[in-house]
Amino acid sequence: MSPSRLVDAQSGEPAPEDADPFAPDPKRLWDWQHDGASLGRETVEARGSGGVWRFRELVDPELPIGAEVSLTEGDTPLLDCPTLADYCGLGNLSVKHEGRNPTGSFKDRGMTVAVSRARHAGARVLACASTGNTAASLAAYSARAGLRSVVVIPAQATASGKLSQAIAHGARVLQIEGDFDAAMRMVLDLAREGDLALVNSANPWRIEGQKTIVFELCAQLAWDPPDWLVFPAGNLGNAAAFGKALREARALGWIERTPRLVAVQAAGAAPFVTSFEAGFAPLQPVAAETLATAIRIGAPVSFHRAVRSLRETGGLAIAVDDAAILDAKAAVDRAGIGAEPASCASVAGTRALAARGTILPGERVVCLLTGHLLKDPETTRDYHLGRLAPAPQANPPCRIPARLDALRSALTA
Ligand SMILES: Cc1ncc(COP(=O)(O)O)c(C=O)c1O
Repeated sequence: MSPSRLVDAQSGEPAPEDADPFAPDPKRLWDWQHDGASLGRETVEARGSGGVWRFRELVDPELPIGAEVSLTEGDTPLLDCPTLADYCGLGNLSVKHEGRNPTGSFKDRGMTVAVSRARHAGARVLACASTGNTAASLAAYSARAGLRSVVVIPAQATASGKLSQAIAHGARVLQIEGDFDAAMRMVLDLAREGDLALVNSANPWRIEGQKTIVFELCAQLAWDPPDWLVFPAGNLGNAAAFGKALREARALGWIERTPRLVAVQAAGAAPFVTSFEAGFAPLQPVAAETLATAIRIGAPVSFHRAVRSLRETGGLAIAVDDAAILDAKAAVDRAGIGAEPASCASVAGTRALAARGTILPGERVVCLLTGHLLKDPETTRDYHLGRLAPAPQANPPCRIPARLDALRSALTA
């Protein structure tokens, strides 16, 4: 029997023989189960680095060595950040910066696995729907693999850094007059017709790669996890991956307790929060709207997987408005760290939960920053130019004549 098998993501029941990870059914998602997979903490420590593939036994034990399509993803820093702890009214806050991945977002972790597997299976054209970062990542990894890629993105709400990456790496970029959810429905249908290999996070290989954020975090913290792990949430792939990673880390004896997971959505794109607040009521999709375009998603595909993750970890879901996201982003940027708007929802959510007294001042919090500051330069610029009021932390540039006296007076002003 193959040690890796597909199972129903909710019930754990075996998937039918013909279940295809590259043509997922959104109504019934599959996850990988690697029977008998084991990896000791000492081995992880001895390897020291290696990113996603440092954990290969738990990610994809059967992929032949050398078959990886890699751009050296993972090994992202965990940065202690006292100024952000102060901003949130807490004593101990660190950020794990996934913007330090090859294409500037966490997507690379899942993409190295999904593209490696797709190439190994003989796929020729890979596809995704995207708010931008998945498109950038898929474009780069397909180029690296020598495969074609098609990305379907909203014409109106894709940040310029991400669009530029997808174009530059040679993806076929299709911009639709519609939102991410429409794009997602289209590519799911096409993949099920057998024309394309889908590599969105509905694909269980993506989840396997994204699990390594949590594995790496556990190792970085000497196997003593934080009290809270807070992350921005859109399609809920990370929520799914983190719950699975924590389940596996506990089963392996790596950690004795799990952090509480907190999924933070933008207020205009918060169907998961609405469900959570009603005791995990059935998902009611919304027409999503937020400046944090990476999480502008109204019908999250991994909803059921995410419910399981929150239930298992005593987790929470919370919504923050765009003003709070932009304010948190200004704080993250001023700390010298920097991240794209959606990423900073994690810090905004932490601040809100600390203000409510849900997160206590003495507790240890890790916020995930999911994407690089340069992904969305327009939003950063517009905030600081005061175009996205209110902007209490605005730092507008100042135009001066090209004369020394003007420079002197500007410095003393
Ligand atoms: C920067 C960033 N943060 C968060 C998310 C949301 O992640 P998930 O879909 O796993 O909830 C995305 C998804 O595109 C993203 O690009």
